[in-house]
Order: sequence, then C-alpha cells, then structure tokens
Amino acid sequence: MFSKITIGKGQSKYDVIIGEGLCTKANFQKFVTKDQKILLLSDRNIPRKKIATIKKNLKSLGAKVYDYEIPPGEKSKSFNNFEKIHNFLSTNAFLRSDAILACGGGVVGDLAGFVASTYMRGINYIQIPTSLLAQVDSSVGGKTAINLKSGKNLVGAFYNPKGVLIDTEFLESLGAREFKSGLAEIIKHALIDNRNFAKYLLKYSKEILNRDSGHLNKIITRSIKIKAKIVTKDEKEQGIRAFLNFGHTVGHALEHYFGSKLMHGEAVAYGMAYEAKMSLEMLKLKKDDFQLIQELLEKFEFNKQLKVSFNELKPFIKIDKKNTSNLVNLVQLKAIGECKIVAIKNINSLKKFFN
Ligand code: GLY
Repeated sequence: MFSKITIGKGQSKYDVIIGEGLCTKANFQKFVTKDQKILLLSDRNIPRKKIATIKKNLKSLGAKVYDYEIPPGEKSKSFNNFEKIHNFLSTNAFLRSDAILACGGGVVGDLAGFVASTYMRGINYIQIPTSLLAQVDSSVGGKTAINLKSGKNLVGAFYNPKGVLIDTEFLESLGAREFKSGLAEIIKHALIDNRNFAKYLLKYSKEILNRDSGHLNKIITRSIKIKAKIVTKDEKEQGIRAFLNFGHTVGHALEHYFGSKLMHGEAVAYGMAYEAKMSLEMLKLKKDDFQLIQELLEKFEFNKQLKVSFNELKPFIKIDKKNTSNLVNLVQLKAIGECKIVAIKNINSLKKFFN
C-alpha cells in the first residue's frame, strides 16, 4: 500500500510516494536510465542495509553508482562541502543527464538539492528522506540551502526534485527525540490548516508516539497533502507559503540560542507555544483552539520550561528571514486553520509573552 501526492506546476511537477519499503527497483525505474551516473549522497547514520539495497537496485537498472558520504550534522551544510561535491562530480565526468540521489535527513537533502541546482546550471535529483522531519517537511517543496556562519539556510535556491520516495521503514531506527522533532512539523501543518487533523493527532497521540504504522502513514500523508497544497500555490514564498513558518520566528531564535541542545522540531514546538500566546492576544485566537494547541503540545511532551529570557532571544528574532526593514513579521493564528501575518513595529512589545 502506498499513497501518491503530486506537487508543483508545469515542468517542475513531481510525485511524492509514501509507503513502507519503497526503495525498490520498480520505484527507481522512473528516475534512472542505463549507464546514467548517480551520486548517492548520504551520511554514516543511514542504515547500511538500506544503502546496500538502494545501490543494488540502482545498479540492476544499469546505473553507475558513486557513493558520497558527508559527516552527520548541520555543519555539513557548508560552502566547503558544496564545493567538494561539485569537484567530485566534475572529476568523475558527471554530465547534465546524470543525477544525484539524496538519502538522509534534512542536511543531506538540502545540500544535495543545492548542488543539483547549480552543477552545470542544474541536474536532476531525487530525495529519499530518512528522518520524520525531512519526510514531512524539508524534502517537500524544493527549498535547498547551505548555511553561512551568520545563519542557517542563507544561501540556496528553490529547485524541485524529480521525485520524493518516503519510505517509512526508515522511521523504525530513529531516536525518540528525532522522531518527536518530526511530529512537531506535523502538528504545525495541522494547526495552520485543519482543526480535525489537530483533533486526530490529540486523540491518537499514544499510538503515534508508539509509531503505530497505520497512524503514521495516515498523518505523514495528511501532513504532506497540506504542504503540497501550499507550495503548489506559492512555490517561491511570495505569499501563503510563509504560513508554513508558524512557530518558526521564535523557534529559530530558540535554535540559535540553545544551539545543538535543541533540535529543530523541538524549537518549532516551543515556538508555536509562544506564537499561540501572541495570537490569543493579538488576533483573538479562539480560546478553545488555544486550549487544543496547549493540550497537543503537552501530549507530545513539548511542555518543558525553557530557561531563556526575551532579551536573550531578541537579537535572533530581529534577524528572522521573514522580517522586512523595521518590521518583525510573525505568522499567527486567528483560528486553527486560519493564518495571518502580523507585522510588529516595536519588538519590545513581545516581551510580555516571555514572562
Ligand atoms: N519549511 C518551510 C517551507 O518549506 O517553506
């Protein structure tokens, strides 16, 4: 059993396939041709057995597979690796008709996608995201990037993959925190789009946390459908795609402040808690909806007291990518499923939400 969601418009349209055990010859057939060179980009945390299966199936289609492993972690999204991979591609005579296959979490996918967008002015790439966060968020929507010392994802491109295979078998070996970090982005998709989905997550939180495969498949598919709808309408974030950043202004600030102590999804979950409080006051978010958000975050155990003050977060809130000249642009909720961008002139007016 698998589901298929089509994303994008015109020539850059692609399919996301979701199911268990998708790294098969039949699924690769669509992307791979005989004698094509494929750079298989991954990191050492990806289960060896899965990598071996992928290689075997690609080779059985006549492809020439070149392995490239990067160290796990955000530091790998660097100019240095970007350049090294380009050199590797050119040394091995990769042509525009060849391709990159990214098998890993968000770091591997973002780096692979950005290299693909620039090598010979663009070659094909395919995503096999292995973390829950990459499966429901970063592999979908064509955002590719590397980091600068001054901030994450500051250099990148919108460049759609040729396809995304979401093989849920990868989730079995994820650590608990990493798994929950992905759930935070699923909660976010529910909050920006659909109250019934939010209620479903609340009702089945126990089964979801126990990684029940039926529920997991359902919520991953539902979550990607929400993101697909948004990024198809607004591929390059000129408008509604910004709604996907609910929880991210404060979330990114928390991530900057706590560094590796907080995972991206955890920071987003706490960011959503702060931004829901702001929505309650500034947009009169319905009380029932506010309560549902609080219950959800609590059920998924995003309810620790973080030791951080407004003044400590303020410099990072100021440099958020959504901001314009002197305005902090925050995504807020009028209701679950109804977002609005609120422009804040005086950043200090946010202080009370951090007490
Ligand atoms: N992660 C937000 C986006 O893809 O736009």
